Amino acid sequence: MKRERESLLRPPAFAYRWKGVRGRAPELPIEELYCERVALEQLAEQRGTPLYVYSAAMIRARLSAFGSAFRAIPHTLCYSVKANSTLAILRLVAGEGAGFDVVSGGELQRVLRVRRKSANKVVFSGVGKTAAEMELALRAGILLFNIESSSELQLLAATATRLKKRAAVAVRVNPDVSAKTHPYISTGLHQHKFGVPIPEAQALYAQAAKEPCLNVAGVSVHIGSQITDVATFREALARMVGLVRVLRVQGHDIRYIDAGGGLGISYEGTQQNFERQIAAYARAVLGPLRGMKLHLLLEPGRSIVGAAGVLLTRVLYRKTNHRKRFLIVDAAMNDLMRPSLYGAYHEIVPVSRASKETEITDVVGPICETGDFFARDRKLSLAKEGDLLAILDVGAYGAVLGSNYNTRGRAAEVLVDGAKAKVIRRRESVEDQLRMESRLS
Ligand code: LLP
Repeated sequence: MKRERESLLRPPAFAYRWKGVRGRAPELPIEELYCERVALEQLAEQRGTPLYVYSAAMIRARLSAFGSAFRAIPHTLCYSVKANSTLAILRLVAGEGAGFDVVSGGELQRVLRVRRKSANKVVFSGVGKTAAEMELALRAGILLFNIESSSELQLLAATATRLKKRAAVAVRVNPDVSAKTHPYISTGLHQHKFGVPIPEAQALYAQAAKEPCLNVAGVSVHIGSQITDVATFREALARMVGLVRVLRVQGHDIRYIDAGGGLGISYEGTQQNFERQIAAYARAVLGPLRGMKLHLLLEPGRSIVGAAGVLLTRVLYRKTNHRKRFLIVDAAMNDLMRPSLYGAYHEIVPVSRASKETEITDVVGPICETGDFFARDRKLSLAKEGDLLAILDVGAYGAVLGSNYNTRGRAAEVLVDGAKAKVIRRRESVEDQLRMESRLS
């Protein structure tokens, strides 16, 4: 009975619940958007807007779907910290048994702050690791360094020797496979700065094997992000397996294959069946690995947290320039960069749904840039000034890409777990921002 009164938006996290009726004939049912058992209108009243809200149930469900899809082979899930690095989210992920993929010393420090013991499930990727970052990772005892150049390998060897530590290494290979995604988040072609072409990788392995403080342990690949055609993963992994065979013949003891992250989500909300999607992804990844006796590392970010977050924002003003309509909201491109940076589409829905009337409008923020928009010429439910909107699928690369542009404080973030809603990052004040600066006199 209860189910009939709920309309699911992003199961199991976000759903509309029937609330009552407003007005007289024709009576309109009012539906209210919930995150798990928390009403978002009430939450926004308590905590203010713009407000990021995440669902713990969704994150757990995604982690567990990964676990079941890959149960056929030994694997470690290394959640990609860059997607959403809030301490409380990292704690939730660690609590579910996952490890982490980090790309900076800062991200590693976040992980260590949450759970020191997780260090042995950390992989360190990135094209520009510094000696200080390597030192931090060596002292923490991470699982694997993904190396991206010969000079980096030399620096790691020197740093490990100085510290009398041993570093497990993989070379991040650039397999020259097109990820068919946005050019800014595609990484697996020779024109990109990432990884080492397969023929050159062999020379790096030979170089690494000569260093007593380096332990050649694996191969690694990451071809891009927001990839929806899983055949691309199969192609990249098939090339990697070819390399593993060659390296083994050359005497290298390759135990790990790091398949990176990159599994896309549906921002249109059409692929609601994540289980089916992850099963297709698992088939694409596992196919080429059959019989290879490799421990698989996965670095998903967006597919774990993307659909688990919304950004709540209030309509400040309605405005019409000639015939063009605008909803000016209190969130801006400093809170959520994806539409401005990649032209990314994010569904926008009313938190209280009472009217069936729609309009074609832009949704824009208060920042002084034409690029400060969330939607253009979008058909949306008619919204009044003061109404609350939810921008969907912003759990990944949302708050983490935030800035202080126009001296706007970063938005607060809340984690919902059942009926509980906890502030996991308080709203940044102007004082917080000014504390870093001096007036010189
Ligand atoms: N591993 C490595 C080495 C990566 O560079 C990335 C993402 C991941 C894993 C996680 O990928 P995911 O599973 O989240 O696709 N800001 C962009 C996305 C940048 C992705 C960067 N690297 C966006 O908002 O679409």
